Amino acid sequence: MNPLIMTVYGTRPEAIKVAPVIKAIEADERLRSMAVVTGQHREMLDEVNAIFGIEPEHDLDIMRHGQTLSQIAARVLEGLDPLLEQVRPDAVIVQGDTTTSTAAALAAFYRQIPVVHVEAGLRSHDILSPFPEEANRKLTSQIAALHLAPTSTSKANLLREGAAEKDIVVTGNTVIDSLLSTVDKQIPFDDPALEDLASSGRRVLLVTTHRRENWGEAMAGVGRAVARIAKDEPELTVVLPIHRNPIVREAVLPQIEGLDNVLVTEPLAYGQFTRMLSVSTVVLTDSGGVQEEAPSLGKPVLVMRENTERPEAVDAGTVKLIGTDEERIVEEVTRLMRDAAAYSAMANAVNPYGDGRAAARTVAAIAHLLGIGRRRDEFIS
Ligand code: UD1
Ligand code: UDP
Repeated sequence: MNPLIMTVYGTRPEAIKVAPVIKAIEADERLRSMAVVTGQHREMLDEVNAIFGIEPEHDLDIMRHGQTLSQIAARVLEGLDPLLEQVRPDAVIVQGDTTTSTAAALAAFYRQIPVVHVEAGLRSHDILSPFPEEANRKLTSQIAALHLAPTSTSKANLLREGAAEKDIVVTGNTVIDSLLSTVDKQIPFDDPALEDLASSGRRVLLVTTHRRENWGEAMAGVGRAVARIAKDEPELTVVLPIHRNPIVREAVLPQIEGLDNVLVTEPLAYGQFTRMLSVSTVVLTDSGGVQEEAPSLGKPVLVMRENTERPEAVDAGTVKLIGTDEERIVEEVTRLMRDAAAYSAMANAVNPYGDGRAAARTVAAIAHLLGIGRRRDEFIS
């Protein structure tokens, strides 16, 4: 029987980034695919699977409101171990830096099953930021058999930490595969207000926030900054698809009530989000994935964090780190909205994260790991 590749994932960004890999494994005659979800996210995960037409074979259904990181990790380990024993996959794919990802890697490692780490080698070089993701990704690197680095910078991080060159392949980030497969489709918005906005030509500030280290007062400050920007710039529309986490909602929503030019929506289905990105003027975010997607569409991104594990688009000038200080957020957004030269200096379409062929390189690297194929040429940005 052909080797069985189990892909384990649990949150929205993992689902978006493994979807092209699962599809590519399914299409490869040499391999069998099994998709397993932990359900760390529920609605946001199911939505992505539905869009990409993926029906996971197993669902650990671990999401509980208010659960701790240890509870997430424990539920993943406990749920996955018997499945690994029963199914005995030839390799387990995990993606990125969530707690699902690291716990799944550990469960596979304990069963002596090779771990394939997609999006390996990202480093902020601050173990507490982003929390817990920087630690998660470093832990996974210690036990992975194959490191699929999106860029040469992430490969260099892995080499510096002692990973063997032969175990690293630069693939590009699979998020660009997903982005390119949806962004030109002009997927209609469920919300008529967004459909009107998209065709109105109005300027749009697209905002997302969810990072754990910004919870509480910093996130409330983000909300206050957004409200001030909306009042100062009545010609602008703010679109804020709000994360499902109640902690995020409690911090942000009270600050932006009653403003006509702030559209708060439920999380947008992926195709609708990428379309909203493509019609946005400026993006204000603390998201990892959005930092990778928006530059590819030439959208200036202001990142509400002190550091980033994704320095490539900062170096290219399309992304700027601005932290979470309320005054600074207002100042930086206002500058981009009012100063055409400042705007055009940042509005460059750059593709440091991928060329849309990361999933094909990923599958080739897995086939090579299993001794049944050759690697492809690496991604060069
Ligand atoms: C998680 C990841 C983070 C990733 C983010 C992407 C960890 C520790 N964190 O953070 O790395 O950047 O996902 O969004 O792995 N919820 C729902 N429905 C959903 C999703 C979430 O109700 O579809 C609520 C639940 O109450 C859940 C809470 O949000 O308990 C927090 O979810 P959790 O996965 O713990 O953390 P995130 O902050 O989403
Ligand atoms: N995204 C989405 N709908 C939204 C907001 C974001 O589909 O309303 C997508 C976005 O395109 C990106 C991913 O979700 O690919 C980022 O997820 P998130 O910000 O939750 O996590 P992170 O990337 O920070 O881990």
